[in-house]
Amino acid sequence: MTPLLQIDDLVVDYASGGRTVRALDGAALTVEAGETVGVVGESGSGKSTLGSAIGGLLPGAAKVVSGAVRVDGDDVNSLRPTQLRALRRERLGYVFQEPIGSLDPTMRVGKQVELALRGRGTKADVLPHLERVRLRDPERVARSYPHQLSGGMAQRVAIALAMAGKPEILIADEPTAALDSQIREEVLGVIFSLAAESGTTILWLSHDLPAVAKRCSRVVVMYGGRVVESGSAGEVLAAPRHPYTAALVRAVPGELAEGERLVPIPGQPPVLDGPSEGCAFAPRCPDADDACAASRPPLVSVEQRDVLCHLAEETVGAGR
Ligand SMILES: Nc1ncnc2c1ncn2[C@@H]1O[C@H](COP(=O)(O)OP(=O)(O)OP(=O)(O)O)[C@@H](O)[C@H]1O
Ligand code: SF4
Ligand SMILES: [Mg+2]
Repeated sequence: MTPLLQIDDLVVDYASGGRTVRALDGAALTVEAGETVGVVGESGSGKSTLGSAIGGLLPGAAKVVSGAVRVDGDDVNSLRPTQLRALRRERLGYVFQEPIGSLDPTMRVGKQVELALRGRGTKADVLPHLERVRLRDPERVARSYPHQLSGGMAQRVAIALAMAGKPEILIADEPTAALDSQIREEVLGVIFSLAAESGTTILWLSHDLPAVAKRCSRVVVMYGGRVVESGSAGEVLAAPRHPYTAALVRAVPGELAEGERLVPIPGQPPVLDGPSEGCAFAPRCPDADDACAASRPPLVSVEQRDVLCHLAEETVGAGR
């Protein structure tokens, strides 16, 4: 069966001030309908670039060098502009860190929700859509302009807009990073319960490993523009197989690393200007050997997870 989302060896470069930054260096990922996927990794690992590439939303400075993104088998990079707009309108929903970018500052919220329903509902359906995102006073919000809302309220409206068309995939790029912790939990609750009701698959780009372990069925760990480990969120984050995942988990405060001291990951993540010759994590990896810097690690499937590491098979059962 065709997977809902398939990303094959995707390579994306940005032209930046006369130089090239390779943001994705052969990223690969398959997502089946109904999954809730948390994509994690340090800043610059390529999460947002991956999320944008799915909807053909990469900025002008970006170039898809090779590889493919397929939604339900359709190759996103070869769609005509009208087909691409239809893909975004009918099959994808996006929520970003800053809700204000998703809202039209010149239009009342109610009208924006009505337009987002795109024939699937009328003016009478606007309030229920605002109620579903647990806005306390939906009538007042419907009459408001975006600048009259708090950050948390605006993000709920952005979620209502993204979910109004019942998308097949919701791509949520750090949707709660700008909110305070109490509101963060509520907004995540709204996203996950709405997606479950609508049968929408979630791709949540996040820095919050404990929340991903709690809410997602699968975690995808990115480093240097590649997916380095993926599998059941609970299992991967409780017992990582990839040395980078292990380092990331040890660096997280909270229940994941309970009883362990917080250990920051030494060194800096790479900024690539072309293909990484070997494993991009080699300069920081405590397990690196000569092969690691010289040749790109293969993808190894072990115990129902995929690990991009020369030593993946040897580390099975090592309880990293
Ligand atoms: N518009 C751009 N122009 C030039 N370089 C960019 C641009 N956007 C991203 N990059 C670079 O591409 C790489 C991947 O960035 P990306 O934003 O995809 O990472 P990220 O994992 O989403 O990071 P964060 O956690 O900070 O959001 C980084 O090196 C980044 O500096
Ligand atoms: S391939 Fe080598 S450097 Fe990369 S994570 Fe595995 S052991 Fe470490
Ligand atoms: Mg990002």
